[in-house]
Amino acid sequence: MAGRDSFNAWKVDVPEVDSKTPNAARIYDYDLGGDHNFEVDRAASEEIQRSVAPTGPFIARANRAFLQRAVRYCLDQGIDQFLDLGSGIPTKGNVHEIAQERDPSARVLYVDVEPVAVAHTRQLLAGNERADIVHADVREPEKVLESRQAQQLLDFSRPVALLMVAVLHYVDPAEMPALRRYRDELVAGSPVVISTLTADERAEEAQRVERFFAENAGTSITFRTKEEVRSLFDGADLVDPGVVWTPQWRPDPGATTGEWDVSRAGCWCGVAITR
Ligand SMILES: C[S@@+](CC[C@H](N)C(=O)[O-])C[C@H]1O[C@@H](n2cnc3c(N)ncnc32)[C@H](O)[C@@H]1O
Repeated sequence: MAGRDSFNAWKVDVPEVDSKTPNAARIYDYDLGGDHNFEVDRAASEEIQRSVAPTGPFIARANRAFLQRAVRYCLDQGIDQFLDLGSGIPTKGNVHEIAQERDPSARVLYVDVEPVAVAHTRQLLAGNERADIVHADVREPEKVLESRQAQQLLDFSRPVALLMVAVLHYVDPAEMPALRRYRDELVAGSPVVISTLTADERAEEAQRVERFFAENAGTSITFRTKEEVRSLFDGADLVDPGVVWTPQWRPDPGATTGEWDVSRAGCWCGVAITR
């Protein structure tokens, strides 16, 4: 898959980017077939598939497809505001594209800490008055919620979908209380959408993934059990089918996981509605 190493190729200036160290966001982009990644990210992805976890790209695609189905579900419930924490490098079928195609007045606020993700999202959103990104760490909810972008875009007196998709495995359990602030902002009827990595199956493979990211990308990963994922929704009502593997959450008719068993998708996920 072709990636490019000059961000000038997209007329995006990302001065603070470290192109010598693999980065989880850019590996994910490569696994999804994106081209906002560097040679080190592509090499890391190939290495992961070869000797760490052969299902890397399957995990990414199953997760992304879950996110998209969950956004459509929210739209079906009449939700027109989305706060997407750890939104990632934009690729095809981003949250604002799905939402605004159905409802042009839908509003989307993205949040990411990775400079490449932020730069490319800004570029993509130029001229879009109903979508924006805040460059912030999700563990700093004040910075997000009090940002100019949040104030302009989101009306917390009405339901807002809170998306935390494939991001909580980067948040240590000890730091989770900070994220409670987002939930506290939500009025009843707001969807909470979560997916996160687990080691419930193939614990040895998960350990290899953990070690790889710690040693090569300086990133620590927290794996959560199904029960722990369920508890992330406490205070909200899980919609059917509850907490399941990502491909199992309201799959599109005829969808298959090809050669892989659903559990190889590696992430538990669910959607709940706040009371
Ligand atoms: C695997 S990607 C998921 C992207 C998107 N949510 C999806 O599911 O397709 C995880 C994203 O979370 C971001 N991220 C990780 N830790 C973060 C943090 N503490 N604050 C903000 N973003 C974070 C990464 O930069 C990356 O873009």
